[in-house]
Amino acid sequence: METQTSLVGKTALVFGGSRGIGAAAARRLAREGADVALTYVSAPQRAAETVVAIEASGRAGLAIQADSADPAAIKAAVAKTMERFGKLDIAVVNAGILMLGDIATVSVEDLDRMLDINVRGVFLSIQAAASRLGEGGRIITIGSNTAVRSGHPGSSVYAMTKAAVAVMVKGAAVDLASRGITVNNIQPGPTITDMTADHIEAIKPLIPLKRAADPDEIAGLVAWLSRKEAGYMTGSSLTMDGGMAL
Ligand SMILES: NC(=O)c1ccc[n+]([C@@H]2O[C@H](COP(=O)([O-])OP(=O)(O)OC[C@H]3O[C@@H](n4cnc5c(N)ncnc54)[C@H](OP(=O)(O)O)[C@@H]3O)[C@@H](O)[C@H]2O)c1
Repeated sequence: METQTSLVGKTALVFGGSRGIGAAAARRLAREGADVALTYVSAPQRAAETVVAIEASGRAGLAIQADSADPAAIKAAVAKTMERFGKLDIAVVNAGILMLGDIATVSVEDLDRMLDINVRGVFLSIQAAASRLGEGGRIITIGSNTAVRSGHPGSSVYAMTKAAVAVMVKGAAVDLASRGITVNNIQPGPTITDMTADHIEAIKPLIPLKRAADPDEIAGLVAWLSRKEAGYMTGSSLTMDGGMAL
């Protein structure tokens, strides 16, 4: 029987679920009862390890190689999830990249790469997932607190992509509301993953709580947004950053 909190019987697809925040979300959704498909682009071994963790929770896992810069690959990932599980209830759009660069020197190639994955890829993932979600469906994007706080050196393009996600979610939520699908955006602050490994220590003093987030803390919010009890929240961006956005 469906409860307010259980995800038993649900199927989730995590775009970018092999490492970091996406892998933590995939593991957490499985612990709460969902079968979980995940995409990856460069780390098949990490994706396989996350599938093993999903299976250790007694749930089914599926790793799919799908570059979020490739529109066809995004559609194929949703199709493969449907083929394996027969339905889709929750989409977590986490795949993203960080390329820092001073505004004077950012190349067109780097600008396009960031836009392709962090903006176009997010839009197309929402679109592809929404085509398969039914009443009660959940879409959760992983944006960034850089969308709402003052910039730091070299972050203009990355922050722009994450601000785009926050606005995109508002419009998607309105478009999908009549189908009972919610769309929300989590904006983490510095989180301990491969993405931040080379600069996390330098950022810590700037964080009021004086520590970076554990990916499992972000995953907890993903799990809550996935639940039935979160059904009245849509179009929202939830910032979780140790107080940096104050
Ligand atoms: N870490 C932070 O402090 C922080 C803060 C705010 C927001 N975020 C956002 O949170 C999300 C996850 O970040 P993270 O720190 O967990 O990063 P991460 O450790 O670098 O992991 C990135 C994940 O996204 C996947 N990915 C990257 N490019 C992809 C592509 N083109 N197609 C498909 N999958 C792709 C990676 O797959 P592979 O393993 O196959 O490469 C991996 O699973 C990103 O959107 C990031 O911007 C992170």
